Amino acid sequence: MPTLLALESSCDETAAAVMVDGQLRANIIAAQLDHAPYGGVIPELASRLHQQQIVRVVEAALREAKVDKSALDAVAFTQGPGLLGALLVGTSFAKAYAFALGIPLVAVNHMQAHVLANFLQPNPPEFPFICLTVSGGHTQLVLVRDYLNMVVLGETIDDAAGEAFDKGAKLMGLPYPGGPEIDKLAARGDAGFHDFPTPRTAEPLQFSFSGLKTALRYLLRDGLAADPDYVDKHEADIAAAYQHRIISILLDKLALAAREQGVQHLAIAGGVSANRELRQRFQALCDENGWQAHIPPFAYCTDNAAMIAMAGHLRFLAGDHAGLDVAPYTRGFERA
Ligand code: KG4
Ligand code: ZN
Repeated sequence: MPTLLALESSCDETAAAVMVDGQLRANIIAAQLDHAPYGGVIPELASRLHQQQIVRVVEAALREAKVDKSALDAVAFTQGPGLLGALLVGTSFAKAYAFALGIPLVAVNHMQAHVLANFLQPNPPEFPFICLTVSGGHTQLVLVRDYLNMVVLGETIDDAAGEAFDKGAKLMGLPYPGGPEIDKLAARGDAGFHDFPTPRTAEPLQFSFSGLKTALRYLLRDGLAADPDYVDKHEADIAAAYQHRIISILLDKLALAAREQGVQHLAIAGGVSANRELRQRFQALCDENGWQAHIPPFAYCTDNAAMIAMAGHLRFLAGDHAGLDVAPYTRGFERA
């Protein structure tokens, strides 16, 4: 059974984990707070911060796991999707490390790893199941037939769900990242305050959020024209109504996919699965329909290297090693 070092550097978290015999021994994350004043991730800044932090993060993970690098059997890393410059840092580091130690490299798809975060908990889903992966960069419905056999049933054609939260929050003058801010405000608001539209998509399992953001922009514009204190007075209600619509869109499509596929187990993954309304309504939806609900612990929902270790462990056991000519990719669900 392998001892693995795993690296994640696809966006704005520099992360390393150590997994021994499928058991997580260390999970270190250096979040990049430097992006906050810009209201979003600045790709070049992310690459530079990964470059500065990666050695320290890897050393911390090995130290915490009490594993010497000579005991490692493989180095797993996020090959894509993500920001190219950010991915290049993790990929180059992984290659150099594996080459120096004379051990295999294991390339991991970040979106598959988000799904596999569900296996980092004691009560994992049974195959086949559907996972709704909702993050700042992605919104996907994935049919999971086996650990390494997944099919994307539907995804967003414009903004990701997390982006809808973050951009909506920005319009309301809230700090970045806006998802947790809207979540907090919504808890004391009235979702009936405004009826946001449900965007139409050509395919029933596709998602679209850009129209929702535009509807929010017009609501704020019209409200502010009538009353300069409109946002201050109604921010909790606006947040509640906006969040309610995002969650309804997500769960309606998830339910449709579950019925179409006839699965008994459903899971959610990604940073937006931290949202309280999503968690509550996801559980309620599953209870009503007799489906088993699975939500990974929050630390494994947002970007982390524990999920890369889990995916890397499974790929390593399947004998799926990458060559030293491996290169990152910015989009896609399968290895390039
Ligand atoms: O998975 P993640 O950490 O990074 C990406 O791969 O994008 O997801 C980050 C996203 C951000 O858009 C953030 O606003 C959103 O997750 N998020 C939330 C909540 N916590 C984080 N959205 C809604 N409610 C939350 N409580
Ligand atoms: Zn992610």
